[in-house]
Amino acid sequence: MKQASEPASQPPLLRLDNLTKHFPQITANDCIHLEIARGEVHCLLGENGAGKSTLAECLYGFLTPDSGKIYFKGHEVRLGSPSDAIQLGIGMVHQHFVLVQPLTVLENIIAGVGSTRFFLDLPASEKRLKELANNYDLHLDFNARIWQLSVGEQQWVEILKALYMGVELLILDEPTAVLTPQEAEKLFTILRRMKQQGLSILFITHKLKEVMSVSDRVSVLRKGRLVSTVQTADITPQDLARLMVGREVVFKVEKEEINPGPPILEIHGLHAMNDKGQEAVCGIDLVVRQNQVIGIAGVSGNGQKELFEVLVGVRPATQGKILLAGEEITRHTPREIARMGLAQVPEDRLEEGLVPDFTIEENLILGLQHEQRFKQKGLMDFKKIRAFAQECIQQFEIAARSPLQTTRTLSGGNLQKVILAREFSARPRCLIANQTTRGLDVGATEYVHRRLLEQRQQGVGIILISEDLDEILSLSDHIVVFFKGEIIGQFAQADADIQSIGLLMAGVREGT
Ligand SMILES: Nc1ncnc2c1ncn2[C@@H]1O[C@H](COP(=O)(O)OP(=O)(O)OP(=O)(O)O)[C@@H](O)[C@H]1O
Ligand SMILES: [Mg+2]
Repeated sequence: MKQASEPASQPPLLRLDNLTKHFPQITANDCIHLEIARGEVHCLLGENGAGKSTLAECLYGFLTPDSGKIYFKGHEVRLGSPSDAIQLGIGMVHQHFVLVQPLTVLENIIAGVGSTRFFLDLPASEKRLKELANNYDLHLDFNARIWQLSVGEQQWVEILKALYMGVELLILDEPTAVLTPQEAEKLFTILRRMKQQGLSILFITHKLKEVMSVSDRVSVLRKGRLVSTVQTADITPQDLARLMVGREVVFKVEKEEINPGPPILEIHGLHAMNDKGQEAVCGIDLVVRQNQVIGIAGVSGNGQKELFEVLVGVRPATQGKILLAGEEITRHTPREIARMGLAQVPEDRLEEGLVPDFTIEENLILGLQHEQRFKQKGLMDFKKIRAFAQECIQQFEIAARSPLQTTRTLSGGNLQKVILAREFSARPRCLIANQTTRGLDVGATEYVHRRLLEQRQQGVGIILISEDLDEILSLSDHIVVFFKGEIIGQFAQADADIQSIGLLMAGVREGT
């Protein structure tokens, strides 16, 4: 491994010269110049659709640039496939992992290393891997199968695999989007240690706090172009946001004082199981009023997802009842519940909420196609549908060429905007949203926050489940903290502070 302190005359580990990548009708990367130094954490920042993943995939040999040059350790390289990149020492952790679920941790890591494919000396490999894991404080059961691990743990496997293969440059595409705040902290510790060992990291994220805490330099992309590369120490989060979106970004949206109205959603003594048959919701009582946002804080996996699913009707309650506008809905079907005015933004919306091969327009009316607003004399009115789609694209700033573009070709954040636009248009009485802004850039996050507060102003009662405490604190009127399926503490917004909520999230009750 290289040491961090190399003579200045050394070429940068990686250099991009004029890299350009076109897709039909769009230039995703336009003459990009970029240098990544040895032992550097370099952040890549940019709005949804700016071209970050495309750039990363060109560096990993997954996509072939149309023009431009890539130099690795001073030599020009051609990356025909990811295995070329891996050979050179470039690794990548994708947002959607590519681990083989039925295999063990050890098998997954070792199977990735081509040279040992015909000669699997498991004990020796395991020994080497254990040393590596210890070195990075990554404690994993090597014999566990991938499907038994949490998403966070799967990411440790991906990282260990890259380290085991001897990468010198590791590319991480929005790794923290799937991590809890604690896991993200741990990831940063690992990245700092990698840096000490002289490794370089290209880190893609939307979270400015993360950029500030972990990176040495930041490169900002806007609409496929490199806007600037700066030293992190020389810049503020506000400036970064402005560079990214080309305007001032308000981090804290104004919330108007408003008195909550009558209860719209009442949850009484609710219990439910998780998929493993264990009790995951353990006696929840909660009342959501009109014009009120109830924030549910908590590390994910503490029953939030199950509560969400029971409320929208896809998971049975084992005990207790739920009333929507005074009417019991505990055993109603998802369709009935939706028709009665409960809208939802599920956590894994990409899996559940979209048909990738449909057009954007089709996805925008998915499930709503029978509504009167899209009809004329009982038939589908394509003009109305087109107008609706165009309005959604404009309002949510979905980076799309036309409503007829295939949804699959949108960037990660823009996929999410399609679903949000659809769900927000349903004029609900009550809205339950889980991790609404995950994966969205700062501009889009600001927009979604405004829309949520607008709904509150119009009388909608909102349950907002989020791991982002800043989001919870700035939007909620009342905050409850979930831990192991119970409400372990609650606060009026005015009395809430990050420290107390953070402790409760970790299960530390007052006086214990
Ligand atoms: N296979 C493809 N075909 C056509 N267009 C594509 C394809 N892949 C990406 N694009 C387009 O290229 C542009 C850049 O997309 P990219 O995925 O690189 O954005 P990103 O910066 O990673 O955004 P996000 O933050 O939302 O993940 C987008 O306009 C996207 O629609
Ligand atoms: Mg992306």
